[in-house]
Amino acid sequence: MTRSDGHPLKIAMIGTGYVGLVSGVCFAEIGANVVCVDKNQGKIDTLLKGNIPIYEPGLSELLIKNKERQQIQFTTNLDEAVSQADVVFIAVGTPTSPESGEADLSYVFKAAEEIGNALDGYTVVVTKSTVPVGTNKKVKDIIAKATCQNFDVASNPEFLREGSAVYDFMNPERVIIGTDSPQARELLTRLYDPLCDEGVPRLRTTLETAELIKYGANAFLAAKIMFINEIANLCEATGANIREVAKGMGMDQRIGRSFLNTGPGYGGSCFPKDTLALNLTGKSYGVDLTIVEQVIRSNAERKSEMARRILTKIKPGETLGVLGLSFKANTDDTRESPAVEICQQLLDQGVKLKAYDPKAHLDKDQLQGDFTRVEDPTEVGKDASGLAILTEWAEFKALDFQAIHGKMKKTDFPSLFDFRNLLDPEVQNLQGFEYHSLGSQKMKITSSQPLTLAG
Ligand code: UDX
Ligand code: UDX
Repeated sequence: MTRSDGHPLKIAMIGTGYVGLVSGVCFAEIGANVVCVDKNQGKIDTLLKGNIPIYEPGLSELLIKNKERQQIQFTTNLDEAVSQADVVFIAVGTPTSPESGEADLSYVFKAAEEIGNALDGYTVVVTKSTVPVGTNKKVKDIIAKATCQNFDVASNPEFLREGSAVYDFMNPERVIIGTDSPQARELLTRLYDPLCDEGVPRLRTTLETAELIKYGANAFLAAKIMFINEIANLCEATGANIREVAKGMGMDQRIGRSFLNTGPGYGGSCFPKDTLALNLTGKSYGVDLTIVEQVIRSNAERKSEMARRILTKIKPGETLGVLGLSFKANTDDTRESPAVEICQQLLDQGVKLKAYDPKAHLDKDQLQGDFTRVEDPTEVGKDASGLAILTEWAEFKALDFQAIHGKMKKTDFPSLFDFRNLLDPEVQNLQGFEYHSLGSQKMKITSSQPLTLAG
C-alpha cells in the first residue's frame, strides 16, 4: 500500500471514537502511516500514553505495537495532519438530533470545512461516518468553498461491530468504494489491497449508492432482529421454542443463521440512529419506508414489554438484581442500550436495582432512581426478589446461581429473567428459580429436571 514514490500512504483520521480509532489503528497495522486527530485533548493524552479510552478486544495490543514502530500518531492538530495526508477520513459522530430525529451532521460539516482550510496538494477526503444519502455531495461543496487545492470526495462506509471491530476490519466481507473520481477510486483500491488480496470483493459505486448501502444494510439487520423477536412472542404463545425455530430457519442459506438471536430489542450507536434517519430520508423524498417505520416502533415497544414482564413479578419497593448494562456483550458502550432503558423504566416505577456489568461505561446520572452498581456479580442477589440478565456477557454463564440464590430474599422460586437466552437450565444449575427466557415457556426449576409451566 504505497504512493507512486514508493512511500507508505499517509492517512489522517478525523475523529478518534469507536470507529475512527479502530480504523486508524488497523490501517497502521496494514502498512499506512496514520495520524489520528481528535478535538478532545483528554482522549489524545490517553492515547499518547498508549492507553485506549474505550474497551474493544484486541485493540490495545495493536495500538501499542504500531505506536512503537511509529506507524501511528495522535494529535489535536488537524491542520498539520491533513496537510500531509494523501487520504483524510472523516469519522466524527453523527448522533440523532434530539429535535428532528435526523442524523446531526454538524460535526461532519465542521470537519469538512476544517479539512478544506488545511488541504495542501491533491487529497482524497473519505467519509466513514454514516451519513444520509446526499451528504457527501454537500461535503464536497463545503470543501470546495474553503480551498483551491485539488481534491476528491469518496464514501467508504464501515461495517464494524463493536466488540469484534478489529476482527471485522481485518476480515471484511466487502469493501465499498463510492466515488465519481477514477483517481480517488484507484487510491482507495490500493489502500485496501492488503485486506483484499484474498479475494474480498471491492464494490465500486457512486457516492449516493455507497451511502445507501450502509443504511440499507443496517436497517435490514435491525428488521431481521425485530422479525425474530416477534416470532419469539409467537413461540411463547404456542409452545414452540425459538432457539430451535431460529436454528431451523437459519439453516436456509437464503436466510442465514446470524442476527436471529431474540433479545430485548436492538441498541447501540448505529441501528437506532440509522433506522430513524433512513425513515426520515424516505419521507423527505416522498418515499414511504413502512417496514423501517414498523421496525422502529416494534423496537421501542419491545423494551417496554421487557420492563412490563419484570413488573408482573417485581413490585415497587422491591429489589431486582441486574446482570448486564452495555448494549451488547464485549463492549463498554451503553449508547441506546436496551438494558439501560429497561432499567430506567423499572426505576421510574419505584423498583430498586442492584446491577453488575464487567465493562459498561455509565455517565453520572445516566440512570436516575434507586440504582446501585456492584463490583461482584453475586452481590446482585443481595436482598433481591428477582434477577434479570440484560446483556449476554459470556462470563455470566459461569456464575454460581446457587450462591446468588442464597443471598436473595427468601421467596418461593424467585424469577430469573434471561432476556438474552444466555443460560441453559440443562447446563447451569438454576434450581430454585422460576426461569423466564424469551421465546419459550417459563420453567419452575425444582431439581435437576426442569419443569415447563404453561402460559
Ligand atoms: C461512528 C460514526 O462516525 C457514526 O456515523 C457511525 O454511525 C458510528 O460510528 P463513533 O465512532 O461511534 O461514530 O463516535 P464517537 O465514539 O462519538 O467518536 C467520535 C469522535 O470524534 C469523538 O472522539 C469526538 O471527540 C471526535 N470529534 C467530534 C472530533 O474530533 N471533532 C469534531 O468536530 C467532532
Ligand atoms: C452495527 C452493525 O452490525 C455494523 O455492521 C456497523 O454498521 C455498526 O452497527 P453494532 O452496533 O456494533 O454494529 O452491533 P451489532 O452486533 O450489530 O448489534 C446491534 C444490536 O442488535 C445490539 O443491541 C445487539 O444486542 C442486537 N442484536 C444483534 C440482537 O438483538 N440479536 C442479534 O441476533 C444480533
